[in-house]
Amino acid sequence: MQTNQIYVEPCLETLKKMPDNFLDCVITSPPYWQLRDYGYEGQWGLEPTFNEYLENLWSMMDEIYRVLKPTGTVWINLGDTYARGSRSKYAHSNESLRSKHEKLIEPNTKPDYEGLDKCLLLIPHRFAIGCIDRGWIMRNDIIWAKRNGMPESCRDRFTKKHEYFFFMTKSEKYYFDLDAIRDKSIYGNERERFSSHPNNGHSKKQNIDLSEVKTASKYNNLENEKDHRQGMHQLRGKNIIEKRPELPSQKEFVDFIRSRMYLKRLVEHTDINETTIAHWYRYDEAGFAYPCVEDWNAIKNLLGEVDAEFIDMDTRMNHVVFETDDINKNAERGKNPGSVSDFWDIPTKPSTKEHYASYNDELIRKPILAGCPEGGIVYDPFMGTGSTAEVCLRSKRLYIGSEMSENYVKIAEKRLEPFLMQQKLF
Ligand SMILES: C[S@@+](CC[C@H](N)C(=O)[O-])C[C@H]1O[C@@H](n2cnc3c(N)ncnc32)[C@H](O)[C@@H]1O
Repeated sequence: MQTNQIYVEPCLETLKKMPDNFLDCVITSPPYWQLRDYGYEGQWGLEPTFNEYLENLWSMMDEIYRVLKPTGTVWINLGDTYARGSRSKYAHSNESLRSKHEKLIEPNTKPDYEGLDKCLLLIPHRFAIGCIDRGWIMRNDIIWAKRNGMPESCRDRFTKKHEYFFFMTKSEKYYFDLDAIRDKSIYGNERERFSSHPNNGHSKKQNIDLSEVKTASKYNNLENEKDHRQGMHQLRGKNIIEKRPELPSQKEFVDFIRSRMYLKRLVEHTDINETTIAHWYRYDEAGFAYPCVEDWNAIKNLLGEVDAEFIDMDTRMNHVVFETDDINKNAERGKNPGSVSDFWDIPTKPSTKEHYASYNDELIRKPILAGCPEGGIVYDPFMGTGSTAEVCLRSKRLYIGSEMSENYVKIAEKRLEPFLMQQKLF
């Protein structure tokens, strides 16, 4: 079966073509029940009852069980639905941003809420229990915490700001590389560039959950540190360092911003002062500085078309990790430091006019790095605009996708083209 390919067909059809014990990893975010209409026949998510919806998802999970290698891992992100609440839940979302092919459920679609009016249906929980009953081993019910989630108008309950990411396997022993996530950030072996400009967006640090901050110290314990240092570091652990490991190169960034908008025009359209902005346009290393996250988010909507290049730049500019210089108590292999806990504090990706429900790359980077070996095959049964495929290409994994919307597949192919071309060249 062809890899690095998105099949324009229902996921069950693609799965049926796959041989047994073939995939290394499955990562997906299925359409949530009764949330939106993607504008074509046969899509999942619009089944009249949630039981029919769950039966469809389980039929997919049964096929995945067959095609997954014994060492494989499965990661399913699922959101919930309130009986009668799905329309009001998204009342604040920006209609104009939504694709013309995609709309909220029309009032004349009559889902059967099975007498559970106003009730949170616990669809993710039902799905997860059904998977366990079918033989899956549930390894984690990861909380995806969305600090920037949509506000809700509802006044008799709390706003919902989390979803589940179920991590499942079919065997007790499977591929799992925690260090693939941990090493990069702790030991700093990835590209780390910092804005040298004072306006560097440190305000965010006040809201950091310290249990999630990675330690940057190379020492495993105090004795070890004493042996290597003249005395102790008085302020150890007090400093929090903000890093943006995915930043583009200086040239990539300056080429990008210059091709999108003249400096003078950007100055006219923002409240940021000209001297700060001028640093973003400089090709000389001494004069250049990246915009801090806040400045980037303040200007990005002025930078023209939301195409693959833009999405890539936006993701890299917004990828922030925090570290302390505290002792690295979790450096020994086998321990789970906070940074790789089952609580993932990852902002949602802003909706684009092309796809409303595309997920943040960070959300799939972790499962791919930890749950699939390099060169392994990742399958996304609901590929949408190709986020899973892009992360696979960036991290040397192969992908296969299914997606019923031709429109999304076209967007995904355009987005993936530069990566696939690059692979052919090298
Ligand atoms: C929540 S979106 C996935 C978004 C994707 N993760 C991204 O980042 O772009 C669900 C997708 O499933 C597609 N879809 C719905 N039913 C399907 C089916 N039976 N087989 C394959 N794709 C389907 C929809 O067209 C939609 O693009």
